[in-house]
Amino acid sequence: PLPLNWLEGPGEIANAAAQHVATLIARKPDAAIALPTGSTPVGLYRRLAELQGKGRFSCPQARFFNLDEFIGLSLDDPRSYGAFLWQHVFRPLSVSPSQVQLLRGAAPDPAAECRRFDQAIAQAGGLDLAILGLGSNGHIAFNEPGSDWNAGTREVVLTEATRHGQRSVFGREADVPHRALTMGLRTLREARAILLLIAGSGKAAAVAAMLRSRPDKNWPVTAILDHPKLTILADRALDPAR
Ligand code: GLP
Repeated sequence: PLPLNWLEGPGEIANAAAQHVATLIARKPDAAIALPTGSTPVGLYRRLAELQGKGRFSCPQARFFNLDEFIGLSLDDPRSYGAFLWQHVFRPLSVSPSQVQLLRGAAPDPAAECRRFDQAIAQAGGLDLAILGLGSNGHIAFNEPGSDWNAGTREVVLTEATRHGQRSVFGREADVPHRALTMGLRTLREARAILLLIAGSGKAAAVAAMLRSRPDKNWPVTAILDHPKLTILADRALDPAR
């Protein structure tokens, strides 16, 4: 059976996820953590900032990585995932730049940038926790259907479904980049723990593929389902048995 927790909406997911992160950092203050973007994790990030405000959480030694980034967008572009993480996580939590490693979408040599990023993860001793969202087509980070389960960080071509899902950030779909850099499924599978957060509309097919629990290259989320320390927090509204 999957380590799946159906929770009562985004609020409960945010609370449970924040508890998960706080517990890890209490045990290992310098934990290396990969962070997702998108609407799903925003509640988690808000909750961590609230806990920090109440003196119940701090992460001055933790190390943070982004999961993915659009090709061509630099950190000073507000649509970049790096900018999103500074806005929603690093600035609110007073994280210092020395704690942060970001994939740079505007790096002149994307392949070299991916190698640099894999080295940074290795230097951190690997990821203690990968926090993931779920794309409507089953992608995790930007590992689209068909992704090699053994891949590390690399440049990828985004599917139309994924670009469509990002249109609100860019105003119109035509402006959504066609390419991105992403951590690979191997890196995610090698993380010592994985926290998968599932909420939002349009995810019924991806949830159904996950519940079939059968390894399937067409549904990248199935690559992590056999992980020994996987936790799934999902919105009860998406439970097909409900
Ligand atoms: C993007 C990101 C994924 C994220 C997904 C879902 O494609 N690259 O990491 O999981 O969006 O986004 P949302 O949480 O907004 O549904």
